[in-house]
Parts: sequence; C-alpha cells; structure tokens
Amino acid sequence: MRILGIETSCDETAAAVLEAEGSGTLRLLSNVVASSVDLHAAYGGVVPEIAARSHLEYINPVIDKALSDANTSWDQINFIAVAKGPGLGGSLLVGVLTARTLAILHNKPLFGINHVEAHPYAAFLEYKLKFPLLALIVSGGHSHLVLFENHLNYKVLGQTLDDAVGEAFDKVAKILGLPYPGGPNIEKAAEEGDASRYAFPKARLKNPYDFSFSGLKTAVLRAAQQEIGEDHSFPSYQIAKRLNQRQRHDIAASFQAAALTALSDVLEKAYSEFFPKSVVVAGGVAANRPLRGILDKSLETSIVYPDIKLCTDNGAMIAARAAYKIAAGVKPESPYTLEATPDLKM
Ligand code: KG4
Ligand code: ZN
Repeated sequence: MRILGIETSCDETAAAVLEAEGSGTLRLLSNVVASSVDLHAAYGGVVPEIAARSHLEYINPVIDKALSDANTSWDQINFIAVAKGPGLGGSLLVGVLTARTLAILHNKPLFGINHVEAHPYAAFLEYKLKFPLLALIVSGGHSHLVLFENHLNYKVLGQTLDDAVGEAFDKVAKILGLPYPGGPNIEKAAEEGDASRYAFPKARLKNPYDFSFSGLKTAVLRAAQQEIGEDHSFPSYQIAKRLNQRQRHDIAASFQAAALTALSDVLEKAYSEFFPKSVVVAGGVAANRPLRGILDKSLETSIVYPDIKLCTDNGAMIAARAAYKIAAGVKPESPYTLEATPDLKM
C-alpha cells in the first residue's frame, strides 16, 4: 500500500509518499519539505499568520512534487494521512482541509494523525524497533517522555510543565543575538564555548519524568544581564549587542549542557525503571549532536535516532505513523468532518 503523508503543523509544508509492505517494511519513496523558516527569521520566531499564508502557497506544489518524486499517480495512492494537531491553528487548517479535499476528490481513506505521536515513527523508517518502546520526543513545541506498549497503546510518563526544550534553545538564541531557529545556532556557538563557565540550575519536579525549562531560560537571561553590568529590568532584546563573542559562546555552551543534562537524567531514570526493548529520541532537538553524545554514554543500550533530516517536521513520519495504525486495524476518519485540533493531546 502507498500512503501520502501531509504535515503543516508549524512552519514546514511537507508531503511524502511511503510504501508499506505486508511484512511491515516501510520504504520512503519521496519526502518533500518547504520551510518558511527564512521568512520568520527576521522576527526571531514563527509568525503564525505568515506560516499559514506560506502553507497555502506551497501545499499543492509540495504534494505534486512528492507524488512525482515517488513516480506515483493518484491511482497508486491507497491512503492519505495528515497531521491534525497539535500545532498552529491556521497552519493545521491548510493541511487538514487540503487532505480532506484530496480524499473526497480521489476517493481515498483519510487518517488524521497526532503530530507528537508521529515524531518517533520517523525512526521506524530505518530501524526494526521492539516494544515496549521508550520515546523521548523533543522539539520546538513539545518535550514528552512516552512508553509505547504497542502501536496503539502508550502512556505519557512525563512532559514539560512550561517551555519545550526547543523553545528554550530558540529563546536563549534570541537573547544571545543568534538567528532563528536557535537550536542549530546554539549548537554551533557552544562548540567554541566553555560549558563550565556558568552553573545553571536544574529544575526539581514532583514527577521525575516531567521537564521544566523556563527557570533555566530565566537563569540565562540573568547571567547575560549580569555579564553586561545591568540588573533584571534591562530588556532582553538589547543584551545581544553588548555581549562579546566569548560571553556568547560560553553562555550557549553552559545553557546547552544544562538542557541536555536535564533530558539525559530523565531518560536514564526511565530506562532503568522500565527496561524498554527500544529507545527512540526524536523531534527537532534530536538533531543536536552533543545530545546524542551525552545520551549514548548514559544508557547501556543503543538509542535509535531518526535520520537528521527526519528529526524536524516532515510528511514521512506522518505516513509512517498511519501505516502502523492501518496495519493494526484502525478505521479511517470521515473526510467531511476531520478537524484540525491545535491543542490535541497525546
Ligand atoms: O520538530 P520540529 O521541526 O518542530 C516542532 O514540532 O516543534 O523542531 C524544531 C525545534 C526548534 O526549536 C529548533 O531550534 C530545534 O528543534 N532544533 C534544535 C536543533 N535543530 C533543531 N535544537 C537543538 N539542536 C539542534 N541541532
Ligand atoms: Zn514537530
């Protein structure tokens, strides 16, 4: 069977064609991603209205390219899967309405997919994974620790109580004057920095599997204000131009070390409690190489990471999640009523 996967929950307009064989083997035939990230860079973060408008412009060409790259006609598509939430309302709406229209027009069964659930499924494209499966899903919008018993049943062990870890990378980057998206730029700046220069605090939480990154972000802001000899009332957007390169690198390195240690401590604790057969770390922040280094050292099992280009948002993970739901007997949703759900929970 061939599945067209569509993803528009944030600033990437994406579509992919996936071939799922009876044996459970997945073969990615195409994966097209058009990002509006450059349009948002000037504002230091995603502007929802700009993202939605850009999805409108790109969605049809992106889907056409996914089909043609896969050498696939509409007759050969068996299912359509679309990210229905969580995400930005206007952005989700473009993907969901496009998928609904195409499902009606071409008479294809339609599946609405939870975007967060789909992130770890990027790993199934390359690896045979076993259950129970422990997934750490870390991106700009989510930080979730999830234990999957099988493809249909899972338990959310913990999640962020405030900012997602990627969001913290993006906000710290903004304080340091590094361009959006912050994650890759913090990673680069940190290579030159001294991670022991600042001792940033670690959140202590009731549920040991939850995360919190807003205190860390505030600690970075205070350290930066102190470095330039100002107090807590000094506006964050004026700090960057007064920091020198060394201060910028050291703050980036110290922040990154604190954020990654928080993730690694939680994953290590969950691993030793639940002894999963597979561990997947997915989502945009999983592209961070030092994170991979720290996690690989902390667990006695090998951790699976999706291919770097499948860590950030894409249509392939949406199609892969749908493939296993379909194989497990989940029924399609009506193309007349499927709704975009910005606050969809796992
Ligand atoms: O999964 P994703 O594309 O979108 C969401 O679903 O949020 O993740 C984007 C997030 C951004 O916050 C970005 O700064 C972060 O992933 N990110 C990284 C890296 N690459 C992307 N964070 C740390 N290190 C990276 N190399
Ligand atoms: Zn995502």
